Amino acid sequence: MSDRVAAIVPAAGRGERLGGSIPKALRPLAGRSLVQHAVETLILAALVDEVVVAAPAAELDAFTKLLGPGVRVIAGGAERIDSVRAAIAVLDETVGVVLVHDAARPLTPPGLVDAVASAVLAGAPAVIPVLAVNDTIKEVDATGRVVRTVPRDVLRAVQTPQGFRRDILDEAYRLGETLPDGVMITDDAGLVEALGVPVTTVPGSQEAFKVTRPADLVFAEALLARRD
Ligand code: CTP
Ligand code: MG
Repeated sequence: MSDRVAAIVPAAGRGERLGGSIPKALRPLAGRSLVQHAVETLILAALVDEVVVAAPAAELDAFTKLLGPGVRVIAGGAERIDSVRAAIAVLDETVGVVLVHDAARPLTPPGLVDAVASAVLAGAPAVIPVLAVNDTIKEVDATGRVVRTVPRDVLRAVQTPQGFRRDILDEAYRLGETLPDGVMITDDAGLVEALGVPVTTVPGSQEAFKVTRPADLVFAEALLARRD
């Protein structure tokens, strides 16, 4: 396996839960856009050799200007899975390891990126960062009535970057095209699981949280202010 590491950044979402009139990845946080923060983390990571960003098709020029000549910007697709697939398609064949990292996780520490990449370089086919779940989790039926309480000690909340051997990710995305409708795949590792390949975990980071709703941006601003 080649030890060349590429990072893919799905950034083509609209940010409907965050609201606002511009795409989420372009939303400012402490003077720079979310996607700039996310890409800077990847560039600061020691093990990342190249970065490909999947942007909204209408914003290719804006993203290219913001991110500079060292970052490849391509058009994403209608769903996150389409954006990641489009980015995988432009990777050079010399890339041996692929990280997939949400633009919406602007404060992810570079050390977490390197922890994921080094686990893949050390031989793991698929690696994800995870955190223990703080809240009690319950299963409910369609009416909202509780069916049961799920044992929390075996649950983990999953973050990005997720890291993969390149051949495994390619195969997982090929399989993804053939999955029947209704199969719920909400992250890249889910496709690898469907392939039957083992997925292993590394400790995630509180700071790798995803900006999803308005309060997350407030939290991100506060964390950044404390860092400086
Ligand atoms: N993403 C993408 N292409 C899409 C949809 C999502 O590249 N068609 C990216 C987002 O830009 C984001 C990441 O996938 O960086 C995680 O998705 P999410 O947090 O759901 O972002 P949005 O889809 O933009 O938000 P929402 O679901 O609230 O509209
Ligand atoms: Mg979304």
